[in-house]
Amino acid sequence: MRKKIIIAVDGYSSCGKSTLAKDLAKELNYIYIDSGAMYRAVTLYFMDENIEIKDTNAINAALEKIQIRFRLNEILSRNETYLNDRNVEELIRSPQVSSRVSEVSAIKEVRQFLVKQQKEMGKERGIVMDGRDIGTVVFKDAELKLFITADVEVRAKRRHLEMMEKGISITIDEVKQNLDHRDHIDTHRAESPLYKANDAILIDNTILTRPQQLKLISNLAKKMIEEISENEANSQTE
Ligand code: DC
Repeated sequence: MRKKIIIAVDGYSSCGKSTLAKDLAKELNYIYIDSGAMYRAVTLYFMDENIEIKDTNAINAALEKIQIRFRLNEILSRNETYLNDRNVEELIRSPQVSSRVSEVSAIKEVRQFLVKQQKEMGKERGIVMDGRDIGTVVFKDAELKLFITADVEVRAKRRHLEMMEKGISITIDEVKQNLDHRDHIDTHRAESPLYKANDAILIDNTILTRPQQLKLISNLAKKMIEEISENEANSQTE
């Protein structure tokens, strides 16, 4: 029997973490969770309800009213984010939410609220989760930790293309500024800043294609699952 593991994928904004984590989960038949979507959903709620992000009481009261779920869209065969039963999958990717999400995700109460739910989602293992603190806070015991990076110019180009395809009008410079801004806040915040866990494997995908990256990492993951399963089987027969 194959043992199910936890795979934590962390890294900077727009370096292909979600694409990789999604592809990997599909390949391994694991659950994929986009933790960034959860921070984006909270940000959208705070924007809609005009929550003052320095007002801790207002934040705590707002968090009590927030329920985030992922549901499968069978037609698009992807998980979509629901905020209080409203499908917000597209809305949370808007430039407006992108420009506010780092500030909201630096709030201690928001992190505690979401980390608790993320830990719960990994209880059965067999999960690939991507974000900024997955290998360092949410799943410190993940069997496989990856830290993804890529050249910032390449990241800006990739994200710009994605946004143009969705019909969002924005310049490459604006995209790059948003990435720089988010990276700065994500790595400098007091609460769970983004950094590479000591036991995480660093992957720079600047010159890797999506299939190349997937092949490299899925081979790694399968080898690890094999080894862990064998060790477990051996220790049971000893
Ligand atoms: O992965 P993303 O770009 O959709 O994430 C949006 C923001 O959420 C990102 O700027 C930082 C924050 N985030 C975080 O602080 N911790 C996570 N585990 C995931 C995302």
